[in-house]
Amino acid sequence: MSVVESSKLSVFRKNKKILSDVSLSINEGQLIALIGHNGAGKSTLIKTILGLIKAKSGSIRVLGKEPGTMRELVGYLPEHVTFYETSTVLDNLKYFADLKGVSLEKVKEMISILGLSKIENQKVSLCSKGQRQKLGLAQALLTKPKLLLLDEPTVGLDPMASDFMYKTLVALKVHGCTSIVCTHELQLIESFMDKALVLNHGQIKAFGSLDELSKHFDLPVFISSSSITPVISKEIGVHDGHNGTIECSYSHLDETLEILRRKYLITDLKVKMPSLMNAFKASLGEDAGVGEVHE
Ligand SMILES: Nc1ncnc2c1ncn2[C@@H]1O[C@H](COP(=O)(O)OP(=O)(O)OP(=O)(O)O)[C@@H](O)[C@H]1O
Ligand SMILES: [Mg+2]
Repeated sequence: MSVVESSKLSVFRKNKKILSDVSLSINEGQLIALIGHNGAGKSTLIKTILGLIKAKSGSIRVLGKEPGTMRELVGYLPEHVTFYETSTVLDNLKYFADLKGVSLEKVKEMISILGLSKIENQKVSLCSKGQRQKLGLAQALLTKPKLLLLDEPTVGLDPMASDFMYKTLVALKVHGCTSIVCTHELQLIESFMDKALVLNHGQIKAFGSLDELSKHFDLPVFISSSSITPVISKEIGVHDGHNGTIECSYSHLDETLEILRRKYLITDLKVKMPSLMNAFKASLGEDAGVGEVHE
């Protein structure tokens, strides 16, 4: 089943078109990286999915219903979560649980799953950024949502805390939970995501797995071996072999590897596949490097 389905969705804010003709279909149990320049419309799209912002035209269904009507099945971790600073971790979570009609048992379970047990009686004002984000994730997960929307969840987190955050999202996929994560940390999300959705000035520029995007944009792949020489690269018609590295396009990868192995008997080949950054830049084309104009 499609968790989020939209067709030609347009969203305006103060007479300015922020999202334009956004058509997408996001499946169950996927981790989606929502990427794009500052002001591209990522947070606006998340708020539209939540039902906090209404679309001007087009259609959008979230878990088959109008946005905002399936609250208990949609979890949200905003960019800045507000807590009661002078209350404890446990009391804050109990407060969110009361609002959502969730039992104390579930609160305790969530505290344990997210490794917050040791600090459950600590005041939030004394929590580190990582602990606060875990608490934010805990409140988003209280109702065991089918869809989780996270707006820049790993900003300011140390590498282990970020890794924990993404591994938790990956683990939730087994239960059919879909996560849509807004982020600028392309290198970090690359290995955890199933698909990337590229927004540029409110329009979708690309949507797919890194493999699909690499294929679609025919991105460059780098093959290296100490036995590759400039003569070999010239013979097989690929980009120069400086320091034993050649560049070929994604569509020629298999063929190039085959030639290197069969004709030149090179077996110690290392392949560097395109990164999400490569795919992101390619999807922007002429617009690459042009983000929001800051006045
Ligand atoms: N409350 C608002 N009223 C009017 N315009 C807004 C409002 N909030 C955001 N915008 C505008 O909508 C556009 C998209 O903003 P949005 O916050 O969705 O971008 P974003 O992709 O999340 O950016 P960032 O990476 O900086 O978080 C921007 O041009 C912004 O100025
Ligand atoms: Mg944003």
